[in-house]
Amino acid sequence: MTVRVGFLGAGAIATYHSKSLRASGEKVERSLVFDPDRPRAEAFAEITGAAVAESAEQVIDGSDAVYVCTWTSEHEALVQLAADARVAIFCEKPLGTSLASAKRMVERVEASGVVNQVGLVLRRSPVFHLLKQLGDDPASGELITVIFRDDQFLPIQGRYASTWRADVERAGAGVLLEHSIHDVDLLEWMYGAIISVSATTRFLHGIEGIEDSAVAHYSFESGLQATLTSVWHDLLDRPSNRQVEVFGSTLWAQLNGEWSGEVSWSRNAPVETRSGAEVAREVRDSRAGENPDGAFIRSVRDDSPAYPSMADAFRAHVVVDATYRSAAAGGARIEF
Ligand SMILES: NC(=O)c1ccc[n+]([C@@H]2O[C@H](COP(=O)([O-])OP(=O)(O)OC[C@H]3O[C@@H](n4cnc5c(N)ncnc54)[C@H](O)[C@@H]3O)[C@@H](O)[C@H]2O)c1
Repeated sequence: MTVRVGFLGAGAIATYHSKSLRASGEKVERSLVFDPDRPRAEAFAEITGAAVAESAEQVIDGSDAVYVCTWTSEHEALVQLAADARVAIFCEKPLGTSLASAKRMVERVEASGVVNQVGLVLRRSPVFHLLKQLGDDPASGELITVIFRDDQFLPIQGRYASTWRADVERAGAGVLLEHSIHDVDLLEWMYGAIISVSATTRFLHGIEGIEDSAVAHYSFESGLQATLTSVWHDLLDRPSNRQVEVFGSTLWAQLNGEWSGEVSWSRNAPVETRSGAEVAREVRDSRAGENPDGAFIRSVRDDSPAYPSMADAFRAHVVVDATYRSAAAGGARIEF
C-alpha cells in the first residue's frame, strides 16, 4: 500500500522529512502541502511532487498521514484537526508552547487512537544508544554524574533564519523548550526518572520570553545527578553541537556529536574510541540508526503504535516546565 503523506508547513524540517522519507525506501506519495507562505508551499511542491492545498483541512482530507511541521504555536490546532479526521500524525517537537497545550494534544490523540509519532529523532541516534548501553552495563558500576552540553547559534540567523523563534507567542520559549527538549528527553530515556530540578536562565540577546542560555541541575530517582547547559550563541559555524560526559564508579564515557559523533570510554582499561560510523555498524539495537520516517510509515501501514509517541514526549514537557518554574523562582529546587 502506498501511504499518502501530507505536509502542514513547508519549511526546513518539512523538507528534511520529505528527503528522509525518500531515503527510507518506503512506498509513499507526497500528496498535498499547505503553508500560508504560498511561495514556500510552491517551492516544496515543485521538489516533492505534492499538490499545493488551499487549507490544512484539504491536506488532511487527501492524506493517510500528515506531518505537522509548522512553528510550534500551530501544532495543537492542526493535531486536533488530524485526530478528528482519524489521520495518522507525525508531530514535530516541542508538542506545544506550554505544558497545558502538550497535555491536551496527548489526550486528544490518545482518545482518537490515531497512529502518532513525535520528532524526537535522537531516540534513534546510534551514538546515544551506545551511551545508554555503556551506562546500563553492570561493569560500569553505579552511575554518579552526567554533564550534558548543547550549543547552537541563535537560529533566527544563518542557515535557519527563522524569525518565529524570536517570538514567544509562536515559539513558547527559548533554547530549553525549542532545542534542549531533545536533551531532557534523552536524559530520562537513558537514566530514568528525574525527581527534582534547580535551574537558571539568561536572556543575553534581549528577546522577550526567549531565554538564550539555561543551566539546569537534575536529580534522578536512582541518585544520579546531571547538569544540562544549553546555549544559543552567535558562532555561525556551530549550527548544533552536543557533548555528553558520563561518570560511573567504574566508567568514564564521552560523546561529541549527535547522530554520528565520536564516543570514547574507559573502565579501568585503556580508552576505547569509536567514530560515529563505527558505532552505527557495531551497536546492537533494532532502533539504533533506524530511519524515523520509514518507521513511522510502517506503523501507519500496519496500524501499529509508532515510536516515540506523543505520549512518550509528554514527560520531557513536564521536566522542561519544572525547569522554567525553577528559573522563574531564581533557581529554587522544584520537586516533581
Ligand atoms: N526534530 C527536530 O530536531 C527539529 C528540528 C527543527 C525544527 N523542529 C520543529 O519543527 C517545527 C518547524 O520548524 P522549522 O525549522 O521547519 O521552521 P520553518 O520556519 O523553517 O518552517 C515553519 C513553516 O510553518 C509555516 N506555517 C506557520 N503556520 C502554519 C499553518 N497554520 N499551517 C501550515 N503552515 C504553517 C510557516 O509559514 C513556515 O513556512 C518547529 O516546531 C520546530 O521546533 C524540530
